[in-house]
Amino acid sequence: MSEPLQAILEAHPAKREEIIPILQEVQSAYSYLPDEAMLAIARHTRMPESRVYGIATFYAQFRFTPMGKTHTMVCRGTACHVSGAERILEEVENQLGIREGETTADLEHSLETVACIGACSLAPCLMINNQVEAKMTTEKVKALYQHGGE
Ligand code: FES
Repeated sequence: MSEPLQAILEAHPAKREEIIPILQEVQSAYSYLPDEAMLAIARHTRMPESRVYGIATFYAQFRFTPMGKTHTMVCRGTACHVSGAERILEEVENQLGIREGETTADLEHSLETVACIGACSLAPCLMINNQVEAKMTTEKVKALYQHGGE
């Protein structure tokens, strides 16, 4: 078992109520929930692994693939949706060659959608590594990724 995982488990009593905080800490340490961690969490909390997956998949905050070096979140909230978020998402997917929820094989890019990033007046928008890119067009998306996307 890798060190951060072991330290996280040791810090939590072996109780079912601990499952969410454990999942959150593991994700924050690894950027996602690796299979090895899911098994270790199941053993630690004495729950079947399928149950641990069931809980984790219920919450949108948990990821099962590693995050890329450059993480893009395309907003699909109402304001962005009516301003063309679907076209923006489609263009990001084209540029990166991955779909929503995926990470490129070289771990350079990952892509997710979010409900609202709190910048509705700048719709349609997206975030790249926590930086908001405002009033996006497909042309702006192309330019972002052709110049490194960071
Ligand atoms: S709906 Fe996109 S920022 Fe609020």
